[in-house]
Amino acid sequence: MSSLIPPADSPGDPNALYGFWYPALRSERIRERGLATAMLLEIPLVLGRDAAGRAFALRDACPHRGMPLSYGWFDGSAVECSYHGWKFDAHTGQCREIPSLTADSKLRVDRIFAGSFPCEERDGYVWVYIPDPAGRPGSDDSPPPAPELPKFGQRYRITHLEADLPCSVDHGIIGLMDPAHGPFVHQSWWWRKRHSIHEKQKQFEPIPNGFRMSTHEPSANSAPYRLLRRLYGQPVTTTIDFVLPNMRFEVIRCDEAWFSSRATVTPVRRDLCRIDFVAAWNVLPWMLGQVSLLRFFGKRFIRQDQETMIRQAEGLKHNPQLLLIDDADRPAKWYFALKAALLESRRAGQPLKHPIEGPVTLRWRS
Ligand code: FES
Ligand SMILES: [Fe+2]
Repeated sequence: MSSLIPPADSPGDPNALYGFWYPALRSERIRERGLATAMLLEIPLVLGRDAAGRAFALRDACPHRGMPLSYGWFDGSAVECSYHGWKFDAHTGQCREIPSLTADSKLRVDRIFAGSFPCEERDGYVWVYIPDPAGRPGSDDSPPPAPELPKFGQRYRITHLEADLPCSVDHGIIGLMDPAHGPFVHQSWWWRKRHSIHEKQKQFEPIPNGFRMSTHEPSANSAPYRLLRRLYGQPVTTTIDFVLPNMRFEVIRCDEAWFSSRATVTPVRRDLCRIDFVAAWNVLPWMLGQVSLLRFFGKRFIRQDQETMIRQAEGLKHNPQLLLIDDADRPAKWYFALKAALLESRRAGQPLKHPIEGPVTLRWRS
């Protein structure tokens, strides 16, 4: 006879959206037979790669007595728990062996499972699909393919940056889409200065599960754009998309040159998220083609955001009343409206009713 000990309540991350792919960690962190750990939406995960190189993700808790499976051993196809040696298939989580059972045991070992999650690799990340815990029909039967960074040719360079942010995923995301903090947080000679603040007007439009800052010529007061324009003698265009649950894509094009980046804010715990930035670009002449240069500036940019959010977290700890204003905080308002619309569409089993009805122009100073 087997009997179940009920789990302590684990309500999960109240701010996070389930039923989506999230980047758990960088691909390079799992090598050969090694096991790595990560946390997504307060779910502890153990990740590895089978003998054929295919990544897997299991809940990092043995279904016997909860020992993290990451303390165990992996033989290329099954993970063995370090406590009593139960073995689980790395991809399905199905139990294969319980060493303590005697030959006449009636226990159906194959009906015991460690939690397992769909897992795919893209652009140097291991993505894990976190299903809706309510398990609503249709939502999770076969997850869509994991997100991919848009690329516009075969030859390109790619680089990755990341930073932990000590706040809920919502604050991480609205920080990411906030157009008004630039001149205060990201001041520098090569980007923009506080006195360069001027009025801006940008058109936005709805896209599935998100919104787009329509394709436009970027601000003339940023050195990198000026340089691009000079090098190629062609107009520079940029398109910025936000897509639920947590992705900001930016594509910059100038003649045949392109630069494509994506920032994702991944909920780790309710009080911690991580920003992952990946950028790919085709070969540009001279300095803009340098990975190290891009990393240098990118790191600095992300560190400025990170330091700001560490300070903001001091204030948020005390649960202050907050204020979102038009038009600079309209994208943040849209994010919350999109999230609510998505949850409502799932609850009602209806298509998402998009909170943005058509093109909108926003105006702000930055
Ligand atoms: S806790 Fe894993 S085998 Fe007992
Ligand atoms: Fe920023």
